[in-house]
Amino acid sequence: MNKRITVSAPGKLMLFGEHAVVYNHPCLVTAVDERMYATVEILEDKNFELHAPDVKVTDYKKPLSELGSGEVPKGAKFVEIAVKNFFEKYSLNTSIRVSTKSDFSSEFGFGSSSASTVCIVKALSELFGLHLGDKELFDISYKTVLDIQGKGSGFDVAAAVYGGVLRFVTGGKEIEPLNIPSLPLIVGYSGVKADTVALMNQVKELSNNNPGMVEEIYQEIEGIVRKARESLGKNDWQTLGGLMNKNQELLVKLGVSIPKIDNMISAALSAGAYGAKLSGAGGGDCIVCLAPEEKQTMVENAIIKEGGTIIHVSTGTRRVRTEK
Ligand code: PMV
Repeated sequence: MNKRITVSAPGKLMLFGEHAVVYNHPCLVTAVDERMYATVEILEDKNFELHAPDVKVTDYKKPLSELGSGEVPKGAKFVEIAVKNFFEKYSLNTSIRVSTKSDFSSEFGFGSSSASTVCIVKALSELFGLHLGDKELFDISYKTVLDIQGKGSGFDVAAAVYGGVLRFVTGGKEIEPLNIPSLPLIVGYSGVKADTVALMNQVKELSNNNPGMVEEIYQEIEGIVRKARESLGKNDWQTLGGLMNKNQELLVKLGVSIPKIDNMISAALSAGAYGAKLSGAGGGDCIVCLAPEEKQTMVENAIIKEGGTIIHVSTGTRRVRTEK
């Protein structure tokens, strides 16, 4: 049996359908070429060790019998609970050291927690000779996310497992890989860290107070996702941009945009973008835009002028994989 393995998984960006996807509507998500890496080594004693300097966890160590209990530092949660869930499910109790490293900052909202969870589950699956299929990797990883966050659709977990562009419905009820080689996305980071769970709770509250209105918004978002899926296959960036604008209007109605994001979006549109929207829960993180090729530099400069940072990513990215 191998004693050491390194696995990587991609980050993600939500293209269309955030929030609605939590309530059984489809979304479109793309994996991005910025990856998370995890190395898992088998040790001789009875401890779990974690070294994740990117999230300020260094030389963290606890007995296997205490996995998931006591004070778990924020940066260790997803890895530790993933190991706990995996060991419980497959009746394992082996000492391991996990080291993680990311191509991207955990501040961007690229799904570093989900990508690291998927890396750990895949690494353990290969290390212990289980060779789990995609859906099994998804299910254990998604359970881990729910154990920690209490809610969430799992779209980020699916992007890390499958890569590429996916049409996805809550909990992996539908995971449909779409054959889209690459998207000319412009990504602008707002510099504001979004609190995904707080925003989901905020939208839930809005829905409790106005169930009809929010369900109507979700239905409209579902229509946008349907049309976007058709346009994606045709590289019709202009139509997709228009759909991004419509999706953004609905996200504003859900109350999840913020002035910084609104300003970055207006600037991108004034500079000639076909369309722009926030990506993810809202409240910060990134915007995604589509623009004609000759306007891309102008759009990027306009976003920078509003205080955004351009993050160069490519899509059509490969799935979770073993590195060595
Ligand atoms: O904030 P992010 O990038 O994790 O995106 C959250 C998207 C939601 O639809 C609001 C939640 C979810 O789990 O689908």
